[in-house]
Amino acid sequence: TIKGFVFDLDGVITDSAEYHFLAWKALAKELDIMINREFNEQLKGVSRMDSLERILKYGAKDQLYNQQEKEALAAKKNEHYVSLIKDVTKKDLLPGVSEFLTELKAKDMKLALASASKNGPFLLEGLGIKELFDTIVDPAQLTHGKPDPEIFQKGASQLGLSVEECVGIEDAPAGIEAINAAGMFSVGIGSKDSLGAADYLISSTEELALDNILVAVAHTK
Ligand code: G6P
Ligand code: MG
Repeated sequence: TIKGFVFDLDGVITDSAEYHFLAWKALAKELDIMINREFNEQLKGVSRMDSLERILKYGAKDQLYNQQEKEALAAKKNEHYVSLIKDVTKKDLLPGVSEFLTELKAKDMKLALASASKNGPFLLEGLGIKELFDTIVDPAQLTHGKPDPEIFQKGASQLGLSVEECVGIEDAPAGIEAINAAGMFSVGIGSKDSLGAADYLISSTEELALDNILVAVAHTK
């Protein structure tokens, strides 16, 4: 039986995936690298430094900067990103998310956050939903990022649950891959093009409903 939900944050709970994209796009442009939304799909769920590496590689400029310069570039992107999310409030929750979280708590589901973002706790605070989460996986403590299953395995174990007792929710291809590799039931929010590997796919957060997910879990067994 399902007893817990392990959530991605950016693009699932709030539209911050868009802010990550805008901040990377601006930084890339300064480096004379043009990135578009299609390329950005590969950055979703990927850590700050790994995202920068992918952008530099894409622009064939990965040999141009040393480690210290790369850290300065990543810090610059983060400053821009933080300026974009600094005023988030409850109003920035994606449609249906507040209702879904309330429904989960009413059904005694345990909630974990499994975001690669070091800004996760700050965002949850601003969105006014930090108290709803029983635990937050610390991305700084991970050996491997998504698509490695580690962050979802940790989310389940920090809840005191097995992966089979949890559902993972993601908007990123790397995230769905991570949930599947963990042996957890995966819910994808997005398009079949990107998230075809999800066990259960919905196109928007408005469609999040506990009963539908539990039916899908039962059918997948
Ligand atoms: C999430 C987002 C990525 C972001 C990563 C690190 O996984 O989907 O776009 O790069 O977190 O976020 P941070 O806030 O620590 O730079
Ligand atoms: Mg995401």
